[in-house]
Amino acid sequence: MFKTYIDTDIKKAIDLLNENQVVAIPTETVYGLAGNALNEIAVAKIFEAKNRPFFNPLIIHTHSVDEIKKFAEIDEISLELANKFMPGPLTLLLPKKNTVPDIVTAGSSKVAIRIPNNSLTIQLLKQLQYPLAAPSANQFGYVSPVLPEHVLKSLNGKIPYILNGGKCSVGLESTIIEVIEKSIIIHRFGGLEKEIIEAFIGIKTIAAKEINNNKTPETSGQLKSHYATKTPLIQGDVIELLKAYKEKNVAIITFNKIYDSLETKHQFVLSKNNILLEAAQQLFTTMRKLDNLDYDLIIAEVFPNEGLGVAINDRLKKAQFINKD
Ligand code: TXA
Ligand code: MG
Repeated sequence: MFKTYIDTDIKKAIDLLNENQVVAIPTETVYGLAGNALNEIAVAKIFEAKNRPFFNPLIIHTHSVDEIKKFAEIDEISLELANKFMPGPLTLLLPKKNTVPDIVTAGSSKVAIRIPNNSLTIQLLKQLQYPLAAPSANQFGYVSPVLPEHVLKSLNGKIPYILNGGKCSVGLESTIIEVIEKSIIIHRFGGLEKEIIEAFIGIKTIAAKEINNNKTPETSGQLKSHYATKTPLIQGDVIELLKAYKEKNVAIITFNKIYDSLETKHQFVLSKNNILLEAAQQLFTTMRKLDNLDYDLIIAEVFPNEGLGVAINDRLKKAQFINKD
């Protein structure tokens, strides 16, 4: 057991990481649970603290595109994307070099790498002699943390330190892509919109789930149950669902509207201004808040299926499938 401290002191994080401890770090997407990616003991501690199965690989975090080249082979299109969108909410899946231990990639020949856009964490990464492996800093399967208090709730006593970078500005995990020949495969929709990638690179992206030949690796973001609240959650037509569950004590998550058929105090609007970025920032905080109230059921709207709405819908859909008896 640890006493878990929350502070903004980078030096403290460096000391702990150099001792092969794990530390929660802020990124623009969600908080990560970080350890020395090149040290198998540190990486094993990450899996242990969050109860994550070892078959589920971790993303490596570094501070520059040059650093990425130390750990992976990078093709031309990936390099263009990296130069344009990193630091930022983009993760590239690339052929790994031998410098990366197998425990990080769960034995895969590919490694996921990104450069987080958070000044504290970039400063931290620049002062370390190694990159950081970091999954989201929550218990496996639960909603990702976007505030230091969320990390504390999941990992109090299990880790020594949370580096406090305040609220995550994007609030959804990174978009994971892989370039195969000249195709761009999206393994996980996230904080970087596919429309923005496509407009820049001039190639239409392909969602991994549209490819049936099983040649692309599974990512845990593709597990059916993930990002899930303990309170059952259903996504769909709110009016119909409110009718179907009228006996239950229900809260609803909506984009911008208020429904007549439910008391306003049970309605949680993610962006009254109708802005998907704002909704994305509010999503996980709202899911966690509702999970701590006494609702029997959370009903969520289907968001517009464009831009960040695609990632929001993906998270809400996955949150539905957990076994909640
Ligand atoms: O925004 C983010 O990406 C956050 C912050 C902390 O950087 N990290 C994050 O990590 O969401 P995690 O572990 O919760 O999700 C990473 C996803 C998982 O679905 C994992 O299976 C996939 O990336 N992944 C990682 N390495 C992979 C690999 N070598 N091959 C295929 N999938 C991989
Ligand atoms: Mg996660």
